[in-house]
Amino acid sequence: MATDAYRQLLEATVQHLESLREQGVRSVTVQPETLKALRPPVGSAPPRGPAERSASGFPPPSQVASKPAAVAPPIPTATRRLDLGSPLPPDAKKAALEELHARALDCIRCPHLAASRNHVVFGVGDLHAQILFVGEAPGADEDAEGEPFVGRAGELLTRILQAMGLTRDTVYIANVLKCRPDTPGQQVGNRKPTTEEMHTCLPYLEEQIRIIRPKVMVALGGTAIEGLIGRSVQVTRIRGQWLQFHDIPLMPTYHPAYLLRNEAISEKRKVWEDMLAVMERIGLPISEKQRRFFTKPA
Ligand code: URA
Ligand code: URA
Repeated sequence: MATDAYRQLLEATVQHLESLREQGVRSVTVQPETLKALRPPVGSAPPRGPAERSASGFPPPSQVASKPAAVAPPIPTATRRLDLGSPLPPDAKKAALEELHARALDCIRCPHLAASRNHVVFGVGDLHAQILFVGEAPGADEDAEGEPFVGRAGELLTRILQAMGLTRDTVYIANVLKCRPDTPGQQVGNRKPTTEEMHTCLPYLEEQIRIIRPKVMVALGGTAIEGLIGRSVQVTRIRGQWLQFHDIPLMPTYHPAYLLRNEAISEKRKVWEDMLAVMERIGLPISEKQRRFFTKPA
């Protein structure tokens, strides 16, 4: 039957694309004839799920009968541009963020994380914040409390904010991944989120950005930067240099956990210089004392 042949072709194509994706391939060139052959035959059921995403060249796996519909297709960031649109009126932000939060609480896009998490760690802070800090993923402490950056690294982030004259309530803090990466069979320690996990979850952060519309973003550590820009980077090489994320200036810097592991004043100074650049960019006042933090006394 034509429909069976079509299904087989579609399934084989999805399998091939998924294996490419596992190898890290993020975009493919598709001949027009191929696309035509993949179009559902006349009379077959309309595809389920967000078909518009197939513009990426990756057919949404949810359109394949053998896949659970809840597994949303990953979206290659390199081919997407978030349409920031016009800013939401201040009083519409709260409802929009609450609605998004409610959706995140129910999310099962990563079934293994949905099964292992205690909390979805959505984000905290001021929904009118000028600065959005982005980490990689919740750890055990964050998973237990449901709030980002509450463990040791979080305490250091809080101190960095204080040094900037800010508090956790005057910025917004979130992670690329909203669920703690599971650690099956392991009692202690956290695991780095996979590229796939970050990719799957990124649309939530992008939606947070669209709603909050910060003036600047700070990416904390190499994994967060990778999750945002969709490729691996050497944070030691790119920190301190402004990047763009969609239309928002993005400052990549070290993760506070790195500063806990490496206590050299030179490393603290680098992160501090990045924070001074952020303060300058949004016009926060900077005192002479602040400028001198972590420089050796002359
Ligand atoms: N590290 C992160 O990247 N995020 C957190 O929320 C906590 C630690
Ligand atoms: N090296 C890393 O891997 N991460 C940091 O945040 C800093 C240095």
